[in-house]
Amino acid sequence: MNKANNLQAWQLKAQAQTELVLERVMPSENIVPHTLHQAMRYVTLGGGKRLRPLLVLAASELGDADTEAVEQAMAAVELIHVYSLVHDDMPAMDNDSLRRGKPTCHVQYDEATALLTGDALQTLAFDVLSRPTSLPAARQLKMTALLAQASGSLGMAGGQAIDLANVGKPMNRHELEHMHSLKTGALIRAAVGLGALACPDLNDADLQRLDQYAAKLGLAFQVIDDVLDCEADTATLGKTAGKDADNDKPTYVKLMGLAKARRYAETLVAEAVDIIDAFGEKAEHLRMLAQFVVARKN
Ligand code: IPE
Ligand code: IPE
Ligand code: MG
Ligand code: MG
Ligand code: MG
Repeated sequence: MNKANNLQAWQLKAQAQTELVLERVMPSENIVPHTLHQAMRYVTLGGGKRLRPLLVLAASELGDADTEAVEQAMAAVELIHVYSLVHDDMPAMDNDSLRRGKPTCHVQYDEATALLTGDALQTLAFDVLSRPTSLPAARQLKMTALLAQASGSLGMAGGQAIDLANVGKPMNRHELEHMHSLKTGALIRAAVGLGALACPDLNDADLQRLDQYAAKLGLAFQVIDDVLDCEADTATLGKTAGKDADNDKPTYVKLMGLAKARRYAETLVAEAVDIIDAFGEKAEHLRMLAQFVVARKN
């Protein structure tokens, strides 16, 4: 099998594993309140690239991972991500009607349900992450703190606040990088960090090296998101194309144009791949996921 087929096979298997874990932790829609549980399942199951859970899994391949902790982290980080998408699409934020090829949560249900769906997914993430594993308790606590910090005002939620506060305003490169690193980068860094923390044999130096890889990858991911918003069509994206320009959002495309933005993302990914060189063969999937981030079509 060549490298591309190899990644695809691993990716499909890891996506199926993610789906199974999410299905297992998600309350049934037969449980009251039916509509809330139905909405949680509607937005979470059967969609998305599952990049963050795949990063958890790929990072966990570097050490002697606790399987339970890895699966819990895969689910938890995806639940936070999906919650962030539900709220991001709401009228008070980006006001989008399409997500993962389906009507957004507030369109399919209503705004109150979308708010509560996000709330419930967020708390479910921490419920799942705190379930028993055979990891030392201190290590598991670190995982919980990492995800909480990456999601909050110094992470994703903070980045989203900066994004909204700068609609229609020019942002310089430094400000834009800070915003992207928070709104998208923080959760991608957390995904890699969670996978590494699930391996008790990985030390602080390993964790730091991985974090440097993840910071570059996280920024590159949002730069490409900005590029695809301009370049790709709605059917391919599964979300409304051209939304950033419509909403007058600060993006890398606005700052430096399409070609330069794409080149910048490619440079970041090349740097990310170099950083993990020291891990050798075990980092194969982390390397492949980095290439996927710039090659992706949606
Ligand atoms: C979209 O994330 C939102 C951003 C943080 C840029 P993804 O592109 O990972 O969305 P899904 O999970 O594949 O739908
Ligand atoms: C969203 O950035 C980042 C999140 C925290 C959800 P965008 O607003 O660009 O994400 P899309 O393009 O709607 O997926
Ligand atoms: Mg947004
Ligand atoms: Mg958006
Ligand atoms: Mg976008």
